[in-house]
Amino acid sequence: MKVYEIKTGSTSLSGLQPAERPIPAPGHGQVQIRVRAASLNYRDQAVVTGRYFGGVVQRDTIPLSDGAGEVSAIGPGVTRVKVGDRVAGAFFQVWIDGRPDRSNFAALGSPLDGMLAEYVVLDQEGVVLLPEHLSFEEGACLPCAGVTAWNALAESGRIRPGDTVLVLGTGGVSIFGLQFAKLHGARVIVTSASDAKLVRAKTLGADELINYVEYPEWHEEVMRLTGGRGVDNVIEVGGAGTLSRSIQSLGFGGQVSLIGVLTREGDTNPHGLMMKGARIQGIFVGNRAMFENMNRAIAANRMRPVVDKVFPFDAVHDAFNYELEKKHFGKIVISV
Ligand SMILES: NC(=O)c1ccc[n+]([C@@H]2O[C@H](COP(=O)([O-])OP(=O)(O)OC[C@H]3O[C@@H](n4cnc5c(N)ncnc54)[C@H](OP(=O)(O)O)[C@@H]3O)[C@@H](O)[C@H]2O)c1
Repeated sequence: MKVYEIKTGSTSLSGLQPAERPIPAPGHGQVQIRVRAASLNYRDQAVVTGRYFGGVVQRDTIPLSDGAGEVSAIGPGVTRVKVGDRVAGAFFQVWIDGRPDRSNFAALGSPLDGMLAEYVVLDQEGVVLLPEHLSFEEGACLPCAGVTAWNALAESGRIRPGDTVLVLGTGGVSIFGLQFAKLHGARVIVTSASDAKLVRAKTLGADELINYVEYPEWHEEVMRLTGGRGVDNVIEVGGAGTLSRSIQSLGFGGQVSLIGVLTREGDTNPHGLMMKGARIQGIFVGNRAMFENMNRAIAANRMRPVVDKVFPFDAVHDAFNYELEKKHFGKIVISV
């Protein structure tokens, strides 16, 4: 079967190469999936270039945490799914429910083999049924970006109708954040470096738009737009370079959902949190129960992930570069 592999010790995109592997057979309790689509996350850039937690990959590794397809075979003892079911893999294969701990951080795409392959075999506990109305391309967007935004807002964030949510940028996590916030009846402020992307965010229901290049002190705009009250939750994908302004954008009792590392340097004074009785909540994707809760909400509301562009299997490098150039709005998908 055709796969891609990140070669051992890879530090650049040239270390990501097409390869052939035998089709894996499902053992006891395992499920074979004919993968139809996979999606990119910013994390995948870090894995390929050896900058992800744990450094360079230690063995030839199939990339991408996120993929969807149909169950093509099952091993003995499988009861959770049947042949023909449409499924996605869970980002953390063994974090089923409850709190995270060191023992359940085995994720697809690093350190485990990922979804950029024609077939994968996963434990039945690590697969989730797709909402019926979604295509494979849409379903492939859910496991990392979708669950992360869902966790930040609906699980740890306990969003309520009438809340105000600030979403930084228009990448995969952030556009899911916009969609889930609107689904919960929140008011949403979206920032972007691109006016054209802000216009697209408006069509998805964004209430207020801020160009963070035009307004480098964007937290002041947030305060103006909220009448000085601040927001209830920030989808914080920037990291060190945006955290200080996210804290300053926060209202009393609010939550900065600490998700991303798109910027590496900054000057963060946390005192504002103390005075507002607010908190920073680390978000590390989420567990399978959160994934299934999210899918119920997506199905009930017939919500569709925003797929910016679908690349063919032989154009994987183009897909990675497209993300690096920040051309996308929402998700980048590869058909398999
Ligand atoms: N903790 C977790 O569990 C978790 C899960 C998923 C992702 N992440 C992290 O979250 C971040 C986003 O991931 P992703 O997959 O959504 O990335 P992505 O799809 O590549 O999104 C990148 C977008 O972020 C925006 N951006 C870049 N720099 C920014 C800045 N200084 N201020 C505001 N927005 C900025 C840009 O949007 P515009 O072009 O609109 O400006 C850019 O297009 C990454 O650091 C990723 O590693 C963490």
